[in-house]
Amino acid sequence: MTHLNAPRLRRTDFPQPGQAPKAKGLGLLPLQDDIVRYCGQHIGVVVADTFERATHAAQLIRVQYDEQQSKTDFAANLSRAIEPSGDLAGQPVDSRRGDVQRALAAATVRVEQTYTIATEHHNPMAPGATVAVWDGPQLTIYDASQWVQNVRRTLAQMLAMPEANIRVFSKFVGGAFGCYLRAWPHIVLAAVAARYVKRPVKLVLTREQMYTSVGFRTPTISRITLGAARDGRLLAMKHEGFEQTSTFDEWTEALTRPTQTTYACPNVETSFRIVPLNVHTPSAMRAPGESQGTFALESTLDELAYELKLDPVELRLRNYAERDPQTNERFSSKALRECYREGASRIGWGKRNPEPRSMSEGRYLIGIGMAGGMYPMLRRPASATARILSDGSAVVQSSTIDMGMGTYTSMTIIASDALGLAPERVRFQLGDSAMPPTPLTGGSMTVASVGSAVHEACLVARGKIVSLAQRDSRSPLFGLREEDVVSGDGHLLSKIEPGRGETYAAILLRNGLKEMEATVESKAAANPDPRTPSGGGTGQGPRQENFSMQIFAAQFALVRVDPELGEVRVARHVSVIGAGRIINPKTARSQIVGGVTQGIGMALMEETVMDHRFGRYVNANLGEYHVPVNADVPTDIDVHFIEEQDTHVNPLGAKGIGEIALIGVAPAIANAVYHATGKRIRDLPITLDKLL
Ligand code: MOS
Repeated sequence: MTHLNAPRLRRTDFPQPGQAPKAKGLGLLPLQDDIVRYCGQHIGVVVADTFERATHAAQLIRVQYDEQQSKTDFAANLSRAIEPSGDLAGQPVDSRRGDVQRALAAATVRVEQTYTIATEHHNPMAPGATVAVWDGPQLTIYDASQWVQNVRRTLAQMLAMPEANIRVFSKFVGGAFGCYLRAWPHIVLAAVAARYVKRPVKLVLTREQMYTSVGFRTPTISRITLGAARDGRLLAMKHEGFEQTSTFDEWTEALTRPTQTTYACPNVETSFRIVPLNVHTPSAMRAPGESQGTFALESTLDELAYELKLDPVELRLRNYAERDPQTNERFSSKALRECYREGASRIGWGKRNPEPRSMSEGRYLIGIGMAGGMYPMLRRPASATARILSDGSAVVQSSTIDMGMGTYTSMTIIASDALGLAPERVRFQLGDSAMPPTPLTGGSMTVASVGSAVHEACLVARGKIVSLAQRDSRSPLFGLREEDVVSGDGHLLSKIEPGRGETYAAILLRNGLKEMEATVESKAAANPDPRTPSGGGTGQGPRQENFSMQIFAAQFALVRVDPELGEVRVARHVSVIGAGRIINPKTARSQIVGGVTQGIGMALMEETVMDHRFGRYVNANLGEYHVPVNADVPTDIDVHFIEEQDTHVNPLGAKGIGEIALIGVAPAIANAVYHATGKRIRDLPITLDKLL
């Protein structure tokens, strides 16, 4: 199937994650014309009855191209940068408070630098894969997706068919980090190919195709200027950010948000521009925008600390934001000060000689660096169904997905807690578009959004059973008020008279019921943020009750640098996180360890290199695109959570941890490399050639 015989597809009328409302419907509709916009664009699908035959047949295809001028070099085309139509995940494209020019002129110390980060790819272990099965007008899709509703809606519009005729499953996703938020072209290709051959089609992206089919982390350029008083107080901050987009789509993310929101500085100016190039469209990759912006900001602060001869932790404390610096709202909770203190103590900050290149161990130079970070607490409407069964177990369903971070487990825990039922008696099911809808699984919002829905659905189902018992003279709970009933171990018990009560099962059976069901849509409380979420993949923090709701981290890294070979090893890393209540300490710790690992990759290894003669990535494979393996990761990743009691964020008090796990890791390592070597590397990754 090529553009010559592929069916016509319709454009969608809603934005994909990462697209501004005005950019909705943009993006590539596959096989609709004969123009190749970037190297790696799909130009045909070959279907065969075995994988080997399909692969061989694809190699027999000969393509003739008329050459046209293309542009792929980001840094060389900065002058072509344009203003995006959307916003930066709810933040304005350009922001300004106070008078930066005047404040800079008055500052005693100024630091002005440019920080750059290479193109990165998500590289989940499991490649993008879709199975499409038609049964008459019914289409079933099995997909690696972070949002089954988005796949269903996208396919329904592109194929001009009712959503009710499409069912999408995504039961297990082998890693994603943002690359499966959008419904990318290969999914609709699988669907139309299956319709064409009248048989189910399985389409799996090769590792090489993974570099040009599911987005990537755009390279970034950040020009930052800081002005401070002699005592370290920030007087002015300026951040000009640049990213890539494709020629046929618009990409934005919150690159400058950390500069806008992190410190109590009265004069701040930020701007953001994108450079359209002949590349695939970028996509959200873990902490999209914030992770790169934080590298720039926290590196500049480290440079400022050295200019001022002030301790880097102390510099951050002197600029600590007691209120949200943009909105002047109170924080619903903020444990960042405790994060700094705990992290400093765990890494041994007190024994650090601040002088660069002053610490060593044998032939190795030792450096200790730190950075702070924040990410908005995101929450969107989500729904869940809870069913308490007469066998004393419960089934809870929601169409969310699990990409390895433990949704199955944490939702089971939340349901178990709400029902007072042992976890092994609760089955949590997900990943089916026929189940109650949820927002995208991204932006660290799953526990806050879906978890709240699961919690509330369980409480409603439980409440229905309680009210059956209250009205039933045969029940030991007859006449009790709901607040006087507690649950535990599958029982409902009187709070007033310990030991008096009965099981869920007994109540259901006596009433001749097989189950009690409740479906709940859970929304953020009053006063939702009027700003529409659009760019950046994921959205912005809700501001209900006039609180600013944010997640915080302090990252401390200890590196060992070989002065002759330029090789950097992260020997220790300490992550201290303030993210409200932690639902499952085991999967939460694992999330942070994963984020630190990815941060080591960002700081020291990850870089997709393009040959601009052909616009082609030259290292589109896991042999030459280096992600950290076990040997690159210190055994000593110390994760600590500062438990914040936050009653404002959501019924669970949990804020989310997926993105904060990465934010601040790379700058902590880069700052440690400077401390070890006296060399300030402003271009990630810090490969050994840059240190020699
Ligand atoms: Mo993520 S980049 O919020 O999947």
